[in-house]
Amino acid sequence: MSHAWSLIENASLKPLNTFHVEATAPLLLQVDEAQALPAALAHPAVAGEPLLALGSGSNVLLAGDPDGVVLVFGNRDIRTLEHRSDHAIVRAGAAVPWHQLVMASLQAGLSGLENLALIPGTAGAAPIQNIGAYGAQVDEFVHAVEAYDRVEGRFRRLDREQCRFGYRDSLFKHEPDRYLVVALELRLPLLAELRLDYAGIREELAAMGVTQPVAADVAQAVINIRRRKLPDPDRIGNAGSFFKNPVLPLEQVQVLQHAYPGLPVHPGSDDGKRKLSAAWMIEACGWKGHRDGDAGVSADHALVLVNHGNASGRELLALARRIAESVRERFGVVIEPEPRLVGATW
Ligand code: FAD
Ligand code: EPU
Repeated sequence: MSHAWSLIENASLKPLNTFHVEATAPLLLQVDEAQALPAALAHPAVAGEPLLALGSGSNVLLAGDPDGVVLVFGNRDIRTLEHRSDHAIVRAGAAVPWHQLVMASLQAGLSGLENLALIPGTAGAAPIQNIGAYGAQVDEFVHAVEAYDRVEGRFRRLDREQCRFGYRDSLFKHEPDRYLVVALELRLPLLAELRLDYAGIREELAAMGVTQPVAADVAQAVINIRRRKLPDPDRIGNAGSFFKNPVLPLEQVQVLQHAYPGLPVHPGSDDGKRKLSAAWMIEACGWKGHRDGDAGVSADHALVLVNHGNASGRELLALARRIAESVRERFGVVIEPEPRLVGATW
């Protein structure tokens, strides 16, 4: 008889994080079917232990071994729950690779996710930091997040409002490890207005020879740009942007713009706020391409920390702290890590 879940002791997490750093999970719990989760969590070796859910580890820095149990899901089903004349509701199991979901939705004639093509990771993790790229964020399409609530001990459906999404932010980040996301439901339009204004998309479409783009063309343009700009974690360990772009009050931004006219500034969450480019400030501090042993900053993108081979999580964290400190000294701006730190605090 096959079990819907399994436990492995002292499991290496190296294959489970895109920085490819070494760490060991005292217990690795693999749950293939969401219904099996309550029984697995009640197992004597698991109950009462700290629990860390992992998808494909593309937004974590393992700076030490996690305590307790690391949970990974196995459900890779994609289903269409509802298909109307103007939209469909698509449900993806937690372990569905995000990019696969994007491509499947486009192939089914749905749009909306094209600007989010090629983001690594799983569907289950997408709402945790509200993934975003090229002028879109996943929260715009979230119909519901189905999660096991470890405080209430039951499955819950959270609608978009309840998830309290923000820029790289959600309820799930504020109550870490309370909600174990088992499925993501997206409401996708059949015809969305294409978003072509983010830097580089129109130019890339022109280079592709596309004059009347459809959603799939935008996805391909985004894929092309991302392949050029960001290092491939299969070739060089990284977790994408290591720092969030700081969102600051307009008055502070104006002072900075005056002192540094080249500093890129983007709209913030509201009129009184603006988002600054952390990459630009890090590059201005001279870090781009810097290397401390195997821990480094990508030569292609200043916001991306890279593992050239055998860097440890601690070495990468030490480098990240020095970078943040130099940005604070030079610009008076505090930047914060985007990936979740495991085994250390910032
Ligand atoms: P993990 O790294 O495994 O986990 C991330 C967080 O989610 C952790 O806190 C973890 O505990 C939690 N978590 C994971 N699964 C679950 C679950 N089922 N239930 C509850 N909690 C869970 N992000 C963007 O937003 N935009 C980008 O453009 C982007 N580009 C990237 C490019 C590269 C090359 C890389 C390596 C990363 C990039 N990222 C980007 C970051 C990353 O892809 C996303 O954050 C992604 O959603 C992480 O998915 P994951 O499955 O790897 O999650
Ligand atoms: N820049 C530099 N030096 C560099 C790279 C960029 O100065 O080495 C400046 C340039 O002026 C450039 C600007 O920074 O125009 C913005 O760069 P980019 O378009 O690459 O965007 P980003 O702000 O660095 C954000 C997200 C990415 C997302 C891209 C595209 C955050 C923290 N990062 O990066 O998300 O893919 O926009 O939308 O918001 C991630 O979260 O892991 C991630 C990769």
